[in-house]
Amino acid sequence: MEYKNLLIETTDAVATLTVNRPQALNALNSEVLDELGRALYQLEYDSAVKVVVLTGAGEKAFVAGADIKEMADMSSYEGHRFAVKGQHVMMAMEKMKKPVIAAVNGFALGGGLELALGCDFIYASQKAKLGFPEVTLGIIPGFGGTQNLSRLIGPNKANEMIFTGRMIGAEKACSWGIVNEVFAPEELLDKARETAAAIAGVGSLGVAYAKDAIANGLNMVKEDGFRYEASLFGVLFATEDQKEGMAAFVEKRKAAFKNR
Ligand code: CAA
Repeated sequence: MEYKNLLIETTDAVATLTVNRPQALNALNSEVLDELGRALYQLEYDSAVKVVVLTGAGEKAFVAGADIKEMADMSSYEGHRFAVKGQHVMMAMEKMKKPVIAAVNGFALGGGLELALGCDFIYASQKAKLGFPEVTLGIIPGFGGTQNLSRLIGPNKANEMIFTGRMIGAEKACSWGIVNEVFAPEELLDKARETAAAIAGVGSLGVAYAKDAIANGLNMVKEDGFRYEASLFGVLFATEDQKEGMAAFVEKRKAAFKNR
């Protein structure tokens, strides 16, 4: 499939999806959001892909936000539609069976930070700057940021970031629990792909069900989450991969998972 603003490169079951609009610091306009939706769908159903690494083109930015030039003249209705379009991309990543790792190589601002937060976890370069500058533009985060950031790090730190619009560096983002690990810029993509390859090497059904249990469980009260986890746990005992994984352990050999 051809994309104007995205690059996809797949090696050994790991797809690297790059937002490729460096002239606008990879800002998300409607076209990029539409393409991201299509690309995620394509990757979800591509049997050659087990894990996705999402990054931004160029030295400077992961994604510097939603496209301010496109938003500048939007009506209230159009603004709402635009937010929903962006939220669909975040939800698509959450609903995907395959993990998506964000490799934040530079500015991750506004919709760019929302895109990273929509991934399953974030690695960042030492040069990364993260923030929600929306209030400086007279708006609020609209691609799920108020919800995802406060759920991830609690309302107090999320309030500070969103109310001030200030950017924070990668180390602080790591100490706040937004970023899992910080790497030298030249190492970032390899490290993200290394972790992606490790995930691609284990049973994909287990990974998919774990992602489902965590993402959906967060929206439930704990008792329902426990019940949901137990159901998924039980379902896995009806798969060939569970038989193979446990037989391989007993026979002291590497499991050959078939994803069924
Ligand atoms: N939208 C549209 N264009 C953008 C953009 C954005 N979010 N961010 C950068 N660009 C464009 C600039 O307009 C510029 O284009 P021109 O050369 O045509 O003028 C080009 O990218 C390079 O940017 P700068 O010259 O500004 O680069 P810089 O190094 O001086 O500054 C920056 C970098 C601090 C990231 C600055 O570009 C910036 O502040 N960008 C906007 C960040 C922002 O406010 N993001 C939030 C957007 S709102 C949002 O995302 C809403 C939501 O939740 C859905």
